[in-house]
Amino acid sequence: MPGPGRTAPLVPAARRAALRRRLLAWYDGARRDFPWRFAEGQADPYRVWISEAMLQQTQVARVVPYYRLFLERFPTLEALAAADEEAVLEAWSGLGYYARARSLHGAARQALALHGRLPASLKGLAALPGFGPYTAGAVASIAFGLPAPAVDGNVARLLARLFAIDGPLEAASTRARLAATAAALLGPERPGDWTQALIELGATRCVKSAPRCERCPVAGLCEARRAGKQLIIPPARRRPGKLRLRLGVAVFRYGELLLLLRRPSSGLFGGLWAPPMAALPQGVLTAAKLRKRLGEVLSRELGVPVRVGRELASAERTLTHRALTLLAFEATTRTRPEGPGLRWATPLEVETLGTASAVRVLLERLPPVRSRPKA
Ligand code: ADE
Repeated sequence: MPGPGRTAPLVPAARRAALRRRLLAWYDGARRDFPWRFAEGQADPYRVWISEAMLQQTQVARVVPYYRLFLERFPTLEALAAADEEAVLEAWSGLGYYARARSLHGAARQALALHGRLPASLKGLAALPGFGPYTAGAVASIAFGLPAPAVDGNVARLLARLFAIDGPLEAASTRARLAATAAALLGPERPGDWTQALIELGATRCVKSAPRCERCPVAGLCEARRAGKQLIIPPARRRPGKLRLRLGVAVFRYGELLLLLRRPSSGLFGGLWAPPMAALPQGVLTAAKLRKRLGEVLSRELGVPVRVGRELASAERTLTHRALTLLAFEATTRTRPEGPGLRWATPLEVETLGTASAVRVLLERLPPVRSRPKA
């Protein structure tokens, strides 16, 4: 019992000890094998960091092949820091959220310049570009064995249920309670495994819409379950509608070559290569009007009159905040556009340069080239 003037601890010591013991024992038997998982104390910090950066917004199964290729290409912090930004974006292309790749590259350079390595402290990590509280805590604990909290979406849901914290997960007050709870659960033993055990339980048992409580090692310690509230904690998130965007994509071909343009570094597909494109008005417009509109915008942008012909392919993609429709049109000019930021790419270059996956899907749907250009 707390004495006079003392407040009760957020998590009583016996409950904390039972949770830690059961969860770590479960993790030892149930952990999935991923290439970024090392025995406690044996982690390669650079590899842990790359995995956490990739896993921030992307599902594990999708990350695995990118992770392997990225590490073949940039096996060390030094190799990443020495690379061109373009090469990093290229290796990242397909994972989305390209600002992450740019931050990663910047953080490698900064860490090397300031520390000669990734800094082995929460404060040092948190000061690097792209390191929010989650990534800093995950890398500090998994890579350096420091007891640091790391609350991602899976862990937030799990802790909300375990401790019946019932506000919306995105509310600042809920986030503060979850952060305090995560900190109260830390202990000196196996900090990296503890972080990954929470992540693992959230990802495989305490899942969003149908939690598998019958297979959960800490179901007996879960307050939401005791109250029968595991399906309503956390409350379903009300998502704002996605912004719909229709893009006209101009396919200029010269024989097998395709005109690509490097996108400005901020905004949609920032820093990646894509055919020239322009936003098209929503609503019902005749194909002729759409083509005319696209031709006007592209003529202005490329500085030569552009003729837009038939529609060649279309693709729909959903990003976090946007629902995209991409429409590819044949496009021609009398003079071949050239200039900085433009490139006539071979089919192999189109595949290997950094392009957004939405653009790649569209390009894969283009009909094959029919005839060779006139000399
Ligand atoms: N998601 C974020 N970090 C992870 C990790 N280390 N293992 C599996 N999934 C994760």
